[in-house]
Amino acid sequence: YTSSVAPTSQAFGEGGGGGKGRNVKWEELGFGFVPTDFMYVMKCSLGHNFSHGSLSPFSTVSLNPSASILNYAQGVFEGLKAQRSEEGRILLFRPEENARRMKIGAERLCMPCPSVEQFVNAVKKTVVANRRFIPPLGKGSLYIRPLLIGSGAALGVQPSPEFTFLIYTSPVNSYRKGPLDLKVENKLFRAIPGYGGTGGIKSITNYAPIYRPIIEARTQGFSDVLFLDAATANHIEETSTCNVFVVKGNIISTPVADGSILPGITRKSIIEFATDLGYQVMERDIEVEEALQADEVFCTGTAMGVKSVASVTYNNRRVQYKTGADSVCQKLYDTLVGIQTGRIENRNWTVQV
Ligand code: COI
Repeated sequence: YTSSVAPTSQAFGEGGGGGKGRNVKWEELGFGFVPTDFMYVMKCSLGHNFSHGSLSPFSTVSLNPSASILNYAQGVFEGLKAQRSEEGRILLFRPEENARRMKIGAERLCMPCPSVEQFVNAVKKTVVANRRFIPPLGKGSLYIRPLLIGSGAALGVQPSPEFTFLIYTSPVNSYRKGPLDLKVENKLFRAIPGYGGTGGIKSITNYAPIYRPIIEARTQGFSDVLFLDAATANHIEETSTCNVFVVKGNIISTPVADGSILPGITRKSIIEFATDLGYQVMERDIEVEEALQADEVFCTGTAMGVKSVASVTYNNRRVQYKTGADSVCQKLYDTLVGIQTGRIENRNWTVQV
């Protein structure tokens, strides 16, 4: 195997896996884009519902330069994973949660959205068609990226006349290797407070604005930034792509997802299963100072999984946390991976493809 096409999106996720994916080297997978064989496309016009979609060979898409997504960013996306179980079954993790979250985002951005059933069926079809790209157990997963975009031409600022629901996939492994070193960002903000903005939906607009603070943090040797709430600049919210939790003793706390924080599915799952493991879980406001005094801090997300934070730096004050085999984060990670790969049965959260 030789790679002819360089991975195209290594800037923030690490590594690639390379090539056209004919023979992906599982060992080399990071979180770069590796094309797979098929994508799923379904279109509908404004005022209608999605009805029929189909698989087509993976390709670039053609858009009118006046398309709403290109001019006014009318679009939301999702991220979920297909993983192998020990027996080689293919499992999705709570895909209906992604479908519901996409629907909430679509309503906010005036777009029709596939039903939960359409969404999950389309994901299943796309995964089956690309199943040879699902890494073996322990080597990563097939990342599934559903997009819902205003694909019709609309020069005026108004909802698109046409919408496209598209799913593409890429084999991936860790988004970042090793524990994270976070820098608290107190000049640029990710979202406005409450439900008036779009911080709580997976809007395409929520991601490019974080490039600048991350690039600055990276040049200073940090792995990511920890955003604060825009109202007081005193409470932690989330990192560029992850929800955040702090641990003190037996209590695991995370900021309330009250409009400015993305309601992550990994976040929600941890809140639900950590109590079964004997922890007390609280959703509440967390001041930066409290986070600095925690025993542990960890991040969660579909791409990131459950990831320890080694340090947080706030106004040049650097605090280190417990990481490693005995950490709460490691226990939660092991449980989550166990559930996702079918080793641990939990509330029927996995869906077999
Ligand atoms: C995910 O964790 O799946 C996300 O969507 C974050 C992403 C922007 C990589």
